[in-house]
Amino acid sequence: MRKLCIINQKGGVGKTTTTVNLAFGLAAQGKRVLIVDNDPQGNISTCIGGESYKDLYDLLIENADVQECVAHLAPNLDVIKSKETLTKAEFILMGEASRETVLRRKLAPIKGYDYVIVDCPPSLGLLNQNALLYADEAMIPATTDVLGFDALKKIITAIHKINEVFGHNIQITKIIPTMHDVRNKVCVETLSKMQNDYYNLVADPIRISSKFKEAPDKKKSIFEYDKSGKGSEDYERLVKTVLRDEAKFDHRAQEPGKLTIKQLA
Ligand SMILES: Nc1ncnc2c1ncn2[C@@H]1O[C@H](COP(=O)(O)OP(=O)(O)OP(=O)(O)O)[C@@H](O)[C@H]1O
Ligand SMILES: [Mg+2]
Repeated sequence: MRKLCIINQKGGVGKTTTTVNLAFGLAAQGKRVLIVDNDPQGNISTCIGGESYKDLYDLLIENADVQECVAHLAPNLDVIKSKETLTKAEFILMGEASRETVLRRKLAPIKGYDYVIVDCPPSLGLLNQNALLYADEAMIPATTDVLGFDALKKIITAIHKINEVFGHNIQITKIIPTMHDVRNKVCVETLSKMQNDYYNLVADPIRISSKFKEAPDKKKSIFEYDKSGKGSEDYERLVKTVLRDEAKFDHRAQEPGKLTIKQLA
């Protein structure tokens, strides 16, 4: 089971959009996928719906059974949702021992999925520390502009720090350039800098498209909303590269000597 978190401390860079479309794309390829919405904004529910009796707050704080918190969304695709109560969870967790590894312990009984994908809030707070200490892989969506590139460097440093402080070994397995405008000089230059600095970690860019803003209004993934558009094409390509990496990064198939964040920094 691959455990990914989609993370960037900068807001509005395409984390939720990437989580949703990567999850739908992998599920369409026959992979069993669980999305975990680790963001009190609850944007996953806004984007794709899903009904469950309980949510991530109940799992983290109320000792709910994990199965009660899982909602079925589509064939091969489930979700553990969140809403604004998750902010309260973060405060409560602050008073607990081993507060950074609660998510890891609570999700431990999860079985039967090929991918667990955690959508993270735009912060470096306790919720995201929990996500980073749960996941084996971090995927970082980053916009191809000056502020996006700056945020990318900062999140890589922060992940490196988390590994050092907690003796963890999460790997950055993809940098995903988002909202890329091929006609914009700054975007083109920034993408080139990303590729120069981070080599083959950088996925092909997700181009800017107004369809991404429209799809959540219909509670649809980009594949359902704009099947033959460039957004579908770009996320399909991302799904293929993630699948191609399976042998390298699937925990069950993990070979010794894997690439560490230290080597990447
Ligand atoms: N490639 C794209 N082209 C155009 N708009 C996009 C693209 N990707 C995402 N968007 C839009 O940009 C906005 C922010 O995207 P999203 O919510 O995925 O970012 P986020 O990083 O999850 O934000 P937050 O930090 O608030 O959680 C949304 O309206 C989304 O529909
Ligand atoms: Mg989001």
